[in-house]
Amino acid sequence: MKILVTGGTGYIGSHACVELLNAGYEIVAIDNFSNSKPEVVQKIKEITKKEFIFYEGDVCDKDILNKIFKENKIDAVIHFAGFKAVGESVQKPLKYYRNNLDSTLSLLEVMTEFNCKKIVFSSSATVYGQPKSLPIKEDFALSTTNPYGSTKLMIEDILRDLYISDNTWSIALLRYFNPIGAHESGLIGENPNDIPNNLMPYIVKVAIGQLEVLSVFGNDYDTPDGTGVRDYIHVVDLAKGHVKAIEKVLKDSGVDAYNLGTGKGYSVLELVNTFMEVNDVKVKYQIVDRRPGDIAACYADAMKAKLVLNWQAEKDIKQMCKDAYNFVKKQK
Ligand code: NAD
Ligand code: UFG
Repeated sequence: MKILVTGGTGYIGSHACVELLNAGYEIVAIDNFSNSKPEVVQKIKEITKKEFIFYEGDVCDKDILNKIFKENKIDAVIHFAGFKAVGESVQKPLKYYRNNLDSTLSLLEVMTEFNCKKIVFSSSATVYGQPKSLPIKEDFALSTTNPYGSTKLMIEDILRDLYISDNTWSIALLRYFNPIGAHESGLIGENPNDIPNNLMPYIVKVAIGQLEVLSVFGNDYDTPDGTGVRDYIHVVDLAKGHVKAIEKVLKDSGVDAYNLGTGKGYSVLELVNTFMEVNDVKVKYQIVDRRPGDIAACYADAMKAKLVLNWQAEKDIKQMCKDAYNFVKKQK
């Protein structure tokens, strides 16, 4: 079976490529390196000791997609490619709508032309907006608070409409909670060049001395220690969820959403303290005002993925902290 992975050199895409190759799938990957580096292609090969075909190009460009589908018999697609920075999406909404929607529409049109109707899509827990209760289930009401989230919800709608128009499609909408950590080899992971927006990359940069102090956004939330609670999931567990989702779409038609999280919530301070403890390193932090748009707590009910996909997260928060630090230390 041959799987096309868009955004294949990105943070989650690269880990998914590794798990797909390890599981015996052939893969073809495409990325335009707008948020990743060419050397990741080699790292994936180094980890897996397997070869795959890589195309440098833009998923919005139907010519390169046509070329890929002509040159390879693609059985299913995992669509990671897209922009993901919430704050930037508020400043530059058109950039986000253009890239995330255009890439998906081009991809779906070319897939239709080549009669490849199986897709796994990278959605996000952001589509739940402010959840009415916790843990969050897949049938909760959907809403968004920023342009990035709106692109995810719009794409989910596009995919649901596509299935209504033609029920031979097989579509899995994977709603990720908060992926952190890195491959145990330390060869692939997440290390943004700019000042990170997300918690774990920021913690790591403070730990290695590239940034001075972590700002903890608020300690007056209605949570056990007052800081925000999230469902952190190891990126390798998340990647394995994609292998299970591919098995499902290869087998059954339909359109279904799945939460990929651990089902457990940890606060900002719990994550920072665990990081310091397992890595024996100091992370200086200060409490500052809440970040606008943040919710107090967010964690998954991950039972549907367990029951239907036969997947559940296995790695704990300590492993996530160890692997995140190990990766970034190796980049220095
Ligand atoms: P990432 O930025 O590391 O990976 C995305 C990859 O897509 C990058 O390598 C980038 O160069 C590439 N890309 C972007 N636009 C492209 C285009 N038009 N053509 C070709 N390549 C393009 O992000 P990630 O964390 O790996 O996220 C992957 C997907 O998962 C994204 O769709 C993201 O929105 C979604 N997601 C991520 C998170 C998270 O916290 N990381 C949470 C929920 C959902
Ligand atoms: N936080 C800090 N300081 C920081 C960064 C974050 O205190 O420097 C706090 C936040 O207030 C929040 C928690 O750490 O309580 C996690 O924040 P992140 O920015 O790491 O993650 P979010 O939950 O805000 O959002 C992430 C992605 C979204 C995605 C969402 C759900 O950025 O794209 O997870 O998957 F939609």
